[in-house]
Amino acid sequence: LGMTVYSLEASNGIAAQVARQLGDELVFLEKKTFPDGEVYVRVPSKPKGIAILVSTMYPNQEKRFLELLFSVEALSAYAEGSIIAVVPYLAFARQDKRFLEGEPISVKAVLKSLEALGLSGLVTVDLHQPRVLGEYLSVPSINVLPAEEIAGYFKGKVSNPLVLAPDIGALERAKRVAEHLGAEFDYLVKERDRVTGEVKIYPKSLDVAGKDVIIVDDIISTGGTMALAAKNVLGSGAKSVKAVCTHAVMVQGALDKLYYAGIEEVVATDTVPSPVSKVSVAPSVARGLRELLEEML
Ligand code: R5P
Repeated sequence: LGMTVYSLEASNGIAAQVARQLGDELVFLEKKTFPDGEVYVRVPSKPKGIAILVSTMYPNQEKRFLELLFSVEALSAYAEGSIIAVVPYLAFARQDKRFLEGEPISVKAVLKSLEALGLSGLVTVDLHQPRVLGEYLSVPSINVLPAEEIAGYFKGKVSNPLVLAPDIGALERAKRVAEHLGAEFDYLVKERDRVTGEVKIYPKSLDVAGKDVIIVDDIISTGGTMALAAKNVLGSGAKSVKAVCTHAVMVQGALDKLYYAGIEEVVATDTVPSPVSKVSVAPSVARGLRELLEEML
């Protein structure tokens, strides 16, 4: 079965790498903005079999979402093969429940509208809460964790590594990176002194003294979480701290905050473009796509 890989501008090169790895043609979607600011997309040629649509959703989440939605609708007019979206960074994923009454589950709105317009499968990377895929999509989907690629980046660069998750929710990711690196892993717990109000963060069970600590999270947004974790780990005698995330959103001077906190190196994947997006998720995405296709066919 043939495939056509479509690149929206925000593919960050991932569309081309996937097309080359799978041996399929790459087609660029046409895109413009109407004089009043409205988004326009056009699929310039019919897919040869399955259509693979590649676009990340940052920067400019709202626009990227509409481009994806409109592209799925446009592709659905051809209606011969499946339409699979590859969305390396799925925006709105952190609003995954009604934290306050009256709030939307934004990620539900995103996933359900893509499916309603004809999406037949989704590949995404390191989703904040992977369970939302099963909850809000009835078409097949895969959440890829680029643990092997992240570990690969550090192989031979750290001598006495300890991989830490900034909280228990991020433990699985840290564990997978540690396994590929042959390192120990742990997670950080946060405690507030009831008298002074001071926040202390420390590893649950392991000692960081003399270790090259690698803290791994899904997203660095303002950098607050990572900077605080790094300061505490350095305060506990870590030899060095490196910060790693999948999605380098990096707003409000995040990178400066991180380096100022004493972090030696910041490393991210290329799901979001940034000066530290040094690790490509393309191999993981291609693997995920192959798996999804097997499941669908
Ligand atoms: C939170 O649950 C996420 O996993 C990240 O820890 C968080 O989004 C990072 O945000 P910031 O960089 O603004 O602290």
